[in-house]
Formats: sequence, structure tokens, C-alpha cells
Amino acid sequence: MEKTLSIIKPDGVARGLIGEVIKLMESNGLKIITMKMLKLTKDQAENFYAVHKERPFFQSLTYFMTSGPIVVMVLEGEDAIARYRDIMGATDYREAAEGTIRREFATDIEKNIVHGSDSPQTAASEIGFFFNSFEVTG
Ligand code: RTP
Ligand code: MG
Repeated sequence: MEKTLSIIKPDGVARGLIGEVIKLMESNGLKIITMKMLKLTKDQAENFYAVHKERPFFQSLTYFMTSGPIVVMVLEGEDAIARYRDIMGATDYREAAEGTIRREFATDIEKNIVHGSDSPQTAASEIGFFFNSFEVTG
């Protein structure tokens, strides 16, 4: 069993899409093993997205990620990292496959509803960024 970190970004929470996103996770074999809602500070958003600090969209992305509450979850399942990225769809919603979260709900390359870890290493560090060992059950 593999674990991955998911974030429902501020646009997804503000648009009332928490239930839709969770439905797609659960109906695709991903189990939520811990979850909370919080609002990031700019410092926290910059730390979380540090790998992107040289990218032109870094300031905009980290500002957006602080613009409202987010829902963070740890998902568990077989091939959870790749499976969840399949469910999210491509970063650019225009390239995302039919039925994916981004294709169904996103209208903007930045405000694309969800985040998912992209490797076992980033999953471990991103889970540790938001949760301590007592919060991650299973
Ligand atoms: P994420 O990390 O959020 O799961 O998304 P991802 O792997 O599909 O995309 P990534 O390349 O890691 O980019 C992180 C987030 O930055 C925003 N972005 N904006 N304006 C742009 O061209 C642009 N490109 C990326 C998106 O919010 C993307 O999810
Ligand atoms: Mg990414």
C-alpha cells in the first residue's frame, strides 16, 4: 500500500467541490487515512512549493495558495501516487482526460482544484510537512 498527499486548493474549497473531489477519490479505490482544513501563510506556501521557486509562476502560485482555506489529506491505496495523479488529470485542464477532476472542474492552469504528490520521496516529505506521525493512521 502506498500513501500520497492530496490538497484541495483554495479554489476547490471556495467553489464547494470538496464532496465531488472526495467522491472521485473514494470511488477510485483511494482511502482517506487523515484529513484537515487549514489556511497557509505565505512562508508556508513558499516552503511547500520550494521546488518551483525559480519558475515564473512561483509568486502567483504561492499567493493563490494562501488565498483561502485548503483541505489536506493523506490517501492510501495500491499505486496511490500514480492513481491519484490519474484522477486529478494534467496540470493544464485543457489537456486533462475526460472524467478527471481538472477536466471536469478547472478553468485555469493555476487554479486547478487539487494537488497530488509526484513521487514516493515527495509524498513522504509532503505528508511530513502537514501531519505528524500520530495523525497518520494505518
Ligand atoms: P501540483 O503540484 O499542484 O499537484 O500540480 P502538478 O504537479 O500537476 O503541476 P506542477 O508543475 O507541480 O505545478 C504546480 C502548480 O503550479 C501551478 N502552475 N501554474 N501558470 C502556469 O503556467 C502554471 N504552471 C503550473 C498549478 O497550480 C500547478 O498545479
Ligand atoms: Mg507538482
